[in-house]
Amino acid sequence: MDTTRKDSLASFWNGLSLKSSEVIYIYMSVIIAATILWLAWTSASSYFRTRARGQLPPGSFGFPIIGDTVQFVLAIGSDVGYRKWLQKKIAKYGPVFKWSFQGMPVVVMDPPGGHKFLFQNEGKLLETYSPVQMVSLWGDDSIVLQLGERHKLLRRHLSRFFDHASISRYLEGVNRNVVQHFSRHWADKEESEFELVPFDVISLYTFSDICNLLMSLDEGPELESFLKEFLKWQNGLLCLPINLPGFTYYKALKARKSILRILGEYVKQRKREVAEGRVSERAKLDILTNLLTVPNENGNLLSDSSIYDNLLMLLVAGFSTTSSALAMTIFYIGKNPEVYEQLVKEHKSILDRKREEGKDDVLIMDDLSAMRYTWQVIQETLRLQPPVGALFRRTTMDCEYKGYAIPKDWKLMCNIVNSHYDLNCFNEPMTFNPSRWEQPPIPFTFMPFGGGQRTCLGIEFAKMQMLVFIHHLVRRCRWSVTDPNETIIRDPVPRTQKTIKITSVAMSA
Ligand code: HEM
Repeated sequence: MDTTRKDSLASFWNGLSLKSSEVIYIYMSVIIAATILWLAWTSASSYFRTRARGQLPPGSFGFPIIGDTVQFVLAIGSDVGYRKWLQKKIAKYGPVFKWSFQGMPVVVMDPPGGHKFLFQNEGKLLETYSPVQMVSLWGDDSIVLQLGERHKLLRRHLSRFFDHASISRYLEGVNRNVVQHFSRHWADKEESEFELVPFDVISLYTFSDICNLLMSLDEGPELESFLKEFLKWQNGLLCLPINLPGFTYYKALKARKSILRILGEYVKQRKREVAEGRVSERAKLDILTNLLTVPNENGNLLSDSSIYDNLLMLLVAGFSTTSSALAMTIFYIGKNPEVYEQLVKEHKSILDRKREEGKDDVLIMDDLSAMRYTWQVIQETLRLQPPVGALFRRTTMDCEYKGYAIPKDWKLMCNIVNSHYDLNCFNEPMTFNPSRWEQPPIPFTFMPFGGGQRTCLGIEFAKMQMLVFIHHLVRRCRWSVTDPNETIIRDPVPRTQKTIKITSVAMSA
């Protein structure tokens, strides 16, 4: 990759986040305000105590009104910070404890029992809950905010884009996209050795994959500036919800407006093409044309705002989580040369078999099934660095868990990170060990894709994207990390910021 390209990618990423300084400034202001609000909070806490019909979980609501919000937002900036925050709480209060986030009581549930309780009771005792800043960023019609029957109807409508038949259809396009991506960003023919920051480059691939799937858009400068808006949008998900100029949340809301404006142009143009009967063969198969022309099971087409909110949701879901998972997989492989060697064996044997059968080397679904070890490596990465660190639900009635009373309207938190590092769930949880996946995990301990009624819709698509990418990477490159002890940041998904050193190789069958 040439220096200009590297520099422009670096500045592209550097301009995007200011969070720590903002948080310190807010922290000071908030401490002053908190003292004034102490009395109000004390009476609120006693309200919760008297209202509950039993013993509340142990824990503390922290500072008045803001609770632990600031500490939490600071802690989740890094992988280690987040785990330390949790471990401190668990050591003090035990695995089920209460705390307060944005002025609301939250109960952290223990794995696996608490997670089972959380995922099996959705729609009965619980419903989904998103912190206040997420609600305005997602938009009212996004699937992630829908409840009950509306959620089920929309989920069934969107599911048809992610079933096995659809995934098999997408494989050819994803494969083509990966090959183009490598020739543009990785395999510089004049240099056999080069360096890059995986997450930065991979986001361009995953974003163009999902834009292609949704709206038949190809990688290029237009897509890069669209991606920039998404990154600003995504920074708002886990920041403090302060809508004032200069703050992350303000920038994220502005980014949402630009994203909707850009989406609006694409949707209008496609509507015109549909009306005039001149949709291209390629665009006929994409999700946008389907959403505009195929009614749901009640015979209704989605409203415009539902189309915008759900396109936005799928665009975000489809690039940031997968970019993180892939970039972190590459990091762990770079740290563990023996894992790389085993991957080479697996992918070489797939190519050898295809050659023996007289087939070309283009991947088909059966080849993906043969990538067992590759999937184990990805699963192990998702265990250590789950892109989504926690999920929240809201109690819709008073309920009880392990003898603790949990009042109506409290929030329950499934702490994905914590469960993946729990000694009762995984042996030697700190060790990167892909072969642990020879055995299935204990139910409700491995939750990178969530669970229950809201399990990730895109699992199979993400799995395909990641397997295809690693296949092409291992065929072309050998690499090592520049700093094996690098701090992994969460922004909001886990990623590293330092380069990996790559040597081009050519795997022959
Ligand atoms: C490694 C990649 C991915 C991870 C780790 C991931 C993780 C998750 C998690 C944890 C949830 C559950 C949220 C909850 O329970 O509140 C979720 C939901 C969802 N994901 Fe993914 N996701 C990934 C990739 C994708 C992709 C590629 C798509 C589609 C293009 C996608 C589409 C969705 C949708 C539509 C939902 C909402 C489901 C609902 O509310 O019914 N995800 N994802």
